[in-house]
Amino acid sequence: MDIKALVSQMTLEEKAGLCSGLDFWHTKPVERLGVPAVMVSDGPHGLRKQDQEADHLGINDSIKAVCMPAACATAASFDRDMIEKMGEAIGDSCQHEQLSVVLGPAVNIKRSPLCGRNFEYFSEDPYLAGEMSAAYINGVQSRNVGTSIKHFAANNQEHRRMSSSSNADERTLREIYLPAFETSVKKAQPWTVMCSYNRINGVYASENPWLLTDVLRKEWGFEGYVMSDWGAVSDRVAGLAAGLDLEMPASGGINDAKIVEAVRSGKLDEKLLDQAVERILTINYRYLENAKPETPWDMEAQHLLSAEIAGDCMVLLKNEGVLPLKEDEEAAFIGEFAVKPRYQGGGSSHINSFKTTSAMEAAQGKPVIYAQGYSAAEDTATDEMIAEAVAAAKKAKVAVVFAGLPDSYESEGYDRTHMQLPACQNKLIEAVAQVNPNTVVVLHNGSPVEMPWIGKVKAVLEAYLGGQAVGLATVRVLYGEVNPSGHLPETFPVKLSDNPSYLFYGGEGNEADYREGVFVGYRYYDKKQMPVLFPFGYGLSYTTFAYSDLRLSASEITDQDTLDVTVKVTNTGSRFGKTVVQLYVGEKQSEVLRPVRELKGFQKVALQPGESKDVTFTLCKRAFAYWNTQIHDWHVKTGEFTIEVGQSSRDIDVSATVKVTSTVKIKQHYTMDSIFMDIMSDPAAVQVMAPLLEGIRKTLVPDSAEGTDAAKEAVSDEMGMAMLQYMPLRGALSFGGGIVTQEMMDGLLNQLNNL
Ligand code: BGC
Repeated sequence: MDIKALVSQMTLEEKAGLCSGLDFWHTKPVERLGVPAVMVSDGPHGLRKQDQEADHLGINDSIKAVCMPAACATAASFDRDMIEKMGEAIGDSCQHEQLSVVLGPAVNIKRSPLCGRNFEYFSEDPYLAGEMSAAYINGVQSRNVGTSIKHFAANNQEHRRMSSSSNADERTLREIYLPAFETSVKKAQPWTVMCSYNRINGVYASENPWLLTDVLRKEWGFEGYVMSDWGAVSDRVAGLAAGLDLEMPASGGINDAKIVEAVRSGKLDEKLLDQAVERILTINYRYLENAKPETPWDMEAQHLLSAEIAGDCMVLLKNEGVLPLKEDEEAAFIGEFAVKPRYQGGGSSHINSFKTTSAMEAAQGKPVIYAQGYSAAEDTATDEMIAEAVAAAKKAKVAVVFAGLPDSYESEGYDRTHMQLPACQNKLIEAVAQVNPNTVVVLHNGSPVEMPWIGKVKAVLEAYLGGQAVGLATVRVLYGEVNPSGHLPETFPVKLSDNPSYLFYGGEGNEADYREGVFVGYRYYDKKQMPVLFPFGYGLSYTTFAYSDLRLSASEITDQDTLDVTVKVTNTGSRFGKTVVQLYVGEKQSEVLRPVRELKGFQKVALQPGESKDVTFTLCKRAFAYWNTQIHDWHVKTGEFTIEVGQSSRDIDVSATVKVTSTVKIKQHYTMDSIFMDIMSDPAAVQVMAPLLEGIRKTLVPDSAEGTDAAKEAVSDEMGMAMLQYMPLRGALSFGGGIVTQEMMDGLLNQLNNL
C-alpha cells in the first residue's frame, strides 16, 4: 500500500478523524477510500478482547482466552527465550482474533512495593525489564501483529495516576526509568508505544515533545506510532505537535474538530497531521497485509505452555530440607488459594480464562487433604477455619499453606497502603507452623510482602501471579517434577519503611518527587549495606551450582572496545536444574554518586548433574557508563571497574577488575571560582598549573624553612595539597605571597580554557 498516496487523497476531516479511535478498541475506517478499521486489545499476558460492552478497567467480560503468568512472574524466569515463546503464542492468538496490536508489555520500574500495578511490571532493574520486554516484543511481532510498550514513561504509581507529575532529574530518568523502553525500541522496534497518564517534570507524557519526539524517535529511532493511554489526552493539538499520533479511545469527535480548527487557523502545520496519519496507517496496513485469521488458537496447548512457563518463574525463597515433597507422604494443602488460586491482577490486564488448574486439582491422586483456612473475598479466618486447618496440619507430615494477596489488595487504579499479607493469613500460617514442623508457604502476590513468620516455616515458594495453570506448576515444583529456577526480579525488604522511596512515594498533591534518584531497589540497599529479607536476583534450587574460572578478554580497554567476560558454571548437585548467571558492574572509586553494582548481563543456563558450561557475556561502553548531565550523554570516566558474577546481588561467586579509559574529552570551562581539585583532575591542566603551584608551595613552606624538620612536620606536601584542593583559583591572589597578579591569572585561565 502506498501510504503517502493514500493520505494525499484524504480530506482534512478524514485525517483528523484517523488520529483518534472509532470507539474503545478500533481505529476509524475511511470507507470512501476503502480504509478499514483495525482493532487493538489489552493483554499483555493473554488477550482481553472485548466484544460488546467496552471498558478499560477489566470490569466487563471479554472473550475466553488463556491467562499466562503476569510480568512480575515472567521477569523472575530471567529467561529471554521463554518469554519470547510466550510472545509467539500471544501473537498467534492475536492473528486468530484479528487484532492488529496487543497492548503491552508494561515495563515501568517497580519503584516502591506499593504500586498497585507492580504485578504488571517486570522489575526494579531497568536492564532486566528491558531485556525481557524486548524478547516478548520480538515473540509477538514475529507473528506480524504489533505490541504497544507502555506506559511511557515514569508511571510508577497509581495514586493520582492521571494528574500526578513524576519529578525526576535527568540522570535518574536516563539511568532508571527510560532504559527499558530504550532497549525495547532498539532491540525489538515495537509497532506502537503507549504514552502514560502522568506528567513528567510537569508536562503530560501525552504532550511532551522531549519524550515523544526527541528521545523516542530522534535518539532511539522509533518508527511506529504513539498512542495515548486510555483518556490520557489533555491538550490534543499540543499532543499532536509533540508526537502523539493516535488518541485512544474515541474523543466523541471533539478533539478531531480541534485538530481541524488548529490546521485551518495555522496553529498546527498540516504536515504534522499527515505524518501522524501516515504512521498510524503504515502500522495498520502492516497488520492488514499480513493478517492470517485462519491461524489456529489451541487453547489447551497454550494452557500447558502457561504451566511450563509458570514452573520456570517460581522462586524458591527458603528450603530447610522439606522440599521437594515425597509422592507418598500425606500433605495438607491449607488456604483457599489451593482451590481458587490468585493468578492474575485486577484492571485492564484481567483475562477471562477459559479454564484454571488449582493445586488441589493438580495434586489429584496424591495423598493430599485440604482445609480452607481463610476466605480471600471476605478477608477473614474464622476460629472454625483456623481449627480445621490446625487439625489438618496435625494429621499430615507436611503442611503447605497457600497464602497471598486477595484481589482487592493489589490492582490497577490504586496503590497498596502497606506491604503486609492479610492479618488472617499471617495468623493462619503461625497457627499451622506451631503444630506442624514441616510447614511450607506458597505465595501468590504481584509484589513483595512482609513475612513475620519467616523463621517459623521450613520453606517458602514465591509463585507470584502465575497464570491460569499456576496450580499445575506449583504442584510440579513442590513435588520436584520441576526444579525451581526463578530468581527475584526485585528486592524483598524486611519492612516497607526500608524502601528508598518510602519518604516520598505518592508525593504531595500532584507532585511526586523521585528524591531517591538512581538509588532504586538493590542500588539503594547494597549501597546502604542494609539487611533485606531476600535480595535482588535471589532464588534457590533443588540442586547447587558453582561459578568459577572467571576470564576477561582484556585487563584494560577503552570505552570504544568491547570486553568478553567468561565464567564456568557447574551443576554440583544431583538433579537437573537451571541457574541464572548474573553479571554486575561497579565503578571502584567514583566521584559521581553511583550504585555499588548494577546488573549488566544475565543468562539462564540448564545443566545436568555434574555438567559444566562456559557462559560468555560481551560488555560495551554502556555497561560502564553513567548519564552525564554536562554532555547529555552516556559517559565513562577513566577508572577501574569491578566485574562480579554471582547468583544474586548479594551472592557474588567470582570477580575481576578491568580498567576502562575514556576516549571522550569533556570540555571544561574554568573560572576564578574553579577549585584546584577539579582543575588538577585533568592531567593536561596539571602542567599548566605547575608554576603557580610551585609559587604557592613556596609561600606555604618558605625556602628558609625548607629542610627543617619542624617545617616538614608542619606542612608536608600532601597536607599542603589537601588544604589547597578545595581552594578556588582566586585564592592564589590572597595566598600567592604577593607574587601572583591578576594578569598572570588571566593568562593561566586562557591557557586552561584552550587545552
Ligand atoms: C491502562 C492501559 C490499558 C488501557 C486500555 C488503561 O487504563 O492504563 O494499560 O491498556 O487502559 O484498557
